[in-house]
Amino acid sequence: MLAEIESILAEARTALEAAESLPALEQTKGAYLGAEGRFTALMKRLGGVPKEERPSLGKAVNAAKVQLEAILVAAREKLELRAALPRHPTDFTLPGRRRGLGHRHPLTQVTEDIVRAFRKLGFAVADGPEVEDEYHCFDALNTPADHPARDAQDTFYLEHPTRPLLRTHTSSVQIRVLKSQPPPIRIVVPGRVFRRDNADATHNPTFQQIEGLYVDKLVTVGDLKGTVEAVFRDLLGSDVRLRFRPHYFSYTEPSFEIDFANSLVKKLGKDWLEIAGCGMVHPQVFENVGLDPEIWTGWAFGFGIERIAMIRYGVNDIRRFYENDVRFLKQF
Ligand code: DAH
Repeated sequence: MLAEIESILAEARTALEAAESLPALEQTKGAYLGAEGRFTALMKRLGGVPKEERPSLGKAVNAAKVQLEAILVAAREKLELRAALPRHPTDFTLPGRRRGLGHRHPLTQVTEDIVRAFRKLGFAVADGPEVEDEYHCFDALNTPADHPARDAQDTFYLEHPTRPLLRTHTSSVQIRVLKSQPPPIRIVVPGRVFRRDNADATHNPTFQQIEGLYVDKLVTVGDLKGTVEAVFRDLLGSDVRLRFRPHYFSYTEPSFEIDFANSLVKKLGKDWLEIAGCGMVHPQVFENVGLDPEIWTGWAFGFGIERIAMIRYGVNDIRRFYENDVRFLKQF
């Protein structure tokens, strides 16, 4: 009977592994393990064998049954996997139907070009969080508690006892960098900023800036003007002219706004376009970060990236950059 067990097991294994479908497998299973199955018949016969042989034969039958069940599970898994696979598998190496691969967003392209121009002059890229605190966004930048920018009407605050906010400018990163590394410092910080503005042709509740910060000994306004001019000529051509108009920022003294002129601006129907704020780092800011304003000098600026992109591409509505209309985006 031992030999019989062996041969039925071998036969069943071949039959189960050969089953081509789940129903066929179930049928084969029945032929061996069902009520009328061959293996079942074998077990029934155990009762009739001599007492002395019963334990060892019983053991053999049980071992064979365990094996049969394992074979069955494996065969079922194989068939289920096969059923889950597509009949005609995709060949990912075939050429696609689309001709182009797409490209980066125009704002990303402009940002990368500005960063590249600053890198040539020895500036590194720094980064900071979009969710900021009042200290980095306002206090350390010398912006008083009653300044309108700090009003909930103008700034997105998060509902939390520590009053976190969405940064209103990339200037907050100036403080983080000044506190984390000693001068000399030459950095640019491209990034997203947020203000509670309603969207119109020139405003959007979120937009991009690029901050610049240069701190060393004996830095002058001349360095600022020369650097910014060099970058814009690199970016937008040699006919670029810049005009520095006196202005006020709490973190610079003196402060300026930069107006920009070239043939592209003319095409937009304007002589000058305001593109940035800047100035010489305020002595109070140096003190706030633990640097001696008698030793250190510096300048800083913040450009609006969309403004630069609008000039470069002749776009007259900032919202176009945020609508994700492929007919617009494809043009860049
Ligand atoms: N933070 C200003 C803004 O959001 C721009 C700016 C002005 C940045 C003067 C500066 C600066 O670094 O020195 O409009």
